[in-house]
Amino acid sequence: ALPEHCDFTVFGGTGDLALRKLLPALYHRDREGQLLPGHRIVGVSRSALDTDGYRSLVRSALETHVPAGELEPAAVERLLSRLHHLELDAHQPEGWHELHGLLKDRPGADQTVRVYYLAVAPGLFGPTCERLDELGLVDERSRVVMEKPIGHDLASARAVNDAVGRVFAEHQVFRIDHYLGKESVQNLLVTRFANAFLEPLWNSRWVDHVQITVAETVGVGGRGPYYDNAGALRDMVQNHLLQLLCLVAMEPPTYVGRETVRDEKLKVLQALKPLTPADVDRDTVRGAYEGYADEVDHPDSRTETFVALKAEVQNWRWAGVPFYLRTGKRMDQRASEIVVVFKEPPHAMFPQSEGTTAPNRLHILVQPDEGMKLHLTAKEPGPGGIRLRPVSLDLSYATAFDQRSPDAYERLLMDVVRGNPTLFMRRDEVEAAWTWVEPILARWAQRSAELEERPETYPAGSSGPTAAADLVERDGRTWQETDQ
Ligand code: BG6
Repeated sequence: ALPEHCDFTVFGGTGDLALRKLLPALYHRDREGQLLPGHRIVGVSRSALDTDGYRSLVRSALETHVPAGELEPAAVERLLSRLHHLELDAHQPEGWHELHGLLKDRPGADQTVRVYYLAVAPGLFGPTCERLDELGLVDERSRVVMEKPIGHDLASARAVNDAVGRVFAEHQVFRIDHYLGKESVQNLLVTRFANAFLEPLWNSRWVDHVQITVAETVGVGGRGPYYDNAGALRDMVQNHLLQLLCLVAMEPPTYVGRETVRDEKLKVLQALKPLTPADVDRDTVRGAYEGYADEVDHPDSRTETFVALKAEVQNWRWAGVPFYLRTGKRMDQRASEIVVVFKEPPHAMFPQSEGTTAPNRLHILVQPDEGMKLHLTAKEPGPGGIRLRPVSLDLSYATAFDQRSPDAYERLLMDVVRGNPTLFMRRDEVEAAWTWVEPILARWAQRSAELEERPETYPAGSSGPTAAADLVERDGRTWQETDQ
């Protein structure tokens, strides 16, 4: 249930994430009547803005990021009236006293759920939490939300988790992976576990392999300094792609609870076959689009903007089934999808010469369009013999559900207010993901240092480096063209 009093404090309140995602998401929820009179939003930043100045900044952000047809003047005013702004530099002593005053001096202060959203550099996570604690602004009802990156590797992720964990208990910590808030991603669990027909086939006996693609057309834009330090493996694979893999591969929990889904995802991460240096050399590909180094103004950059790799989940259900993952920036299209490719039928009863067949494939379309396509083989109509032809069953969410599909943050932010951590990453998950990713990072770093190796360049607007195609073709498979 929603708490009657809630102060939603965003550190980084004038930043890109806050203006582009968080405030529009809160606007939509407010417009739907989900925020209560006792809910306030406090933007904290280093900008010298008073509350009025902040309100105008947010007003123009809403005008930019909310489609015109969804901007209702009364709803905009209502959201703006909830806003406050405080100038504060987390490294400096000033401003905290005012924050304390604002949060303590309100009706229902003792029962207020305080949400602290850390949309700032990870180096500030620990110090900010400590300061809040010293000021007595953290109690059993308080929650903290962390944006990625949570660490740069396992040790730094642990350090961040330890620092935050000294102030907040694990059940108060909400680590965002916004992919888990996407409608199509949540639907993956429903598709698998609220239907009977898929699950018996969802294993190594019937599945040949799985492909997970997250392709973006955008480059790194204004995020150069962060991105050049991170790269696609840290930015996308360690979190979003591994989370998608977990949802595809996990066992059904007995019920959807705060810990049950996360327990099952953790088991998948722990079952990922660790990659040896030889495995990394054979089964991972890193690429960088042409012009990337200039864009980030770092001519010697070795950072990858594309990754393809082959993973294996070593358990009873999946042993021997490759999971091919790829993600890249400046690709030919924006398309995220999961493809489950089934094995050929056990016996070919129709002569192959009669038409063409292809193995069954289930495409789960994550974005931009949400939906599912099941590729089957059918009889081509005609009076002659039986000729086989591939056909597809198409389900488009936009057509099936004639309603607005909320942004991932809308669901996730309200889950924080409600105190439901199911769709957030638990500490052990984040750390297990780093544990798997680290040997790849280490081997790449070693090759860069010893062999002066760089990621393979690919043309901007292409489907990535050629080595990515080789990775699957070597196994007698091909990347499925995205089916959007
Ligand atoms: C973020 C990454 O987590 O996800 C970005 O840091 C990436 O680099 C973004 O562009 C992709 O999110 P979406 O929702 O646009 O697929």
